[in-house]
Amino acid sequence: MKKKLYFGRVTSRKISEIKEDNFKKFIKIKNINRLNLKKKLILEIGIGMGENLIYLSKKNIKKNIIGVDPFKNGMVNVSDYCINNNIKNIYLYPYVFQKFINKFKKFRFDIIYILFPDPWPKKRHKKRRIVNEEFLKKIFVILKKRGKVFFSTDNLDYFTNVKTIIKKFPNIKVKKINKIVTIKTKFYLKAEKKGHKINSLLFSKY
Ligand SMILES: C[S@@+](CC[C@H](N)C(=O)[O-])C[C@H]1O[C@@H](n2cnc3c(N)ncnc32)[C@H](O)[C@@H]1O
Repeated sequence: MKKKLYFGRVTSRKISEIKEDNFKKFIKIKNINRLNLKKKLILEIGIGMGENLIYLSKKNIKKNIIGVDPFKNGMVNVSDYCINNNIKNIYLYPYVFQKFINKFKKFRFDIIYILFPDPWPKKRHKKRRIVNEEFLKKIFVILKKRGKVFFSTDNLDYFTNVKTIIKKFPNIKVKKINKIVTIKTKFYLKAEKKGHKINSLLFSKY
């Protein structure tokens, strides 16, 4: 039986036909297979509504940025923004990360962001969490030497668990970040509103 890899909703609100068409065109034109791999690459896994992806595209105009997430409203939001604001360095992959990594094994990233992955707080759901040992192994293969991974969560159990797992990786340096690692995304703001403590880690490969 095929392992289920996504437990969220693919769409939340209705997407207009025009935005949907534009998104399809965007995906076709901005084909990840034709990406210029000489440029530095940034990856965001689980972009949500895409606030960070858009922010990064402006901050890093000479780098290419890939966003991976099966959540279509976020993908369409980003493609719409790119079309209307002439943003050229964003590429979108509207499926799960597990599929992305199998397809683009040879890509090597300078920076990877994993911001507020679904926390799955119930004990019986914890195995659904995306960041686990198997995931981190894959991440560190596609991360360049001296590359960086930013991980943020407001779920203390998730944070503690990742901190424990990471000790198994000999060539990874871990640093606790006490300030915000990028802009405030939708889930950063949600956590802030609930008064949750946000914990962030920086992993560097050496
Ligand atoms: C809690 S939201 C956080 C979104 C965003 N990073 C933020 O900070 O607002 C988690 C996101 O991860 C995405 N996601 C869940 N499983 C995924 C997977 N296997 N591959 C890629 N994205 C995934 C969800 O669709 C959702 O958009």
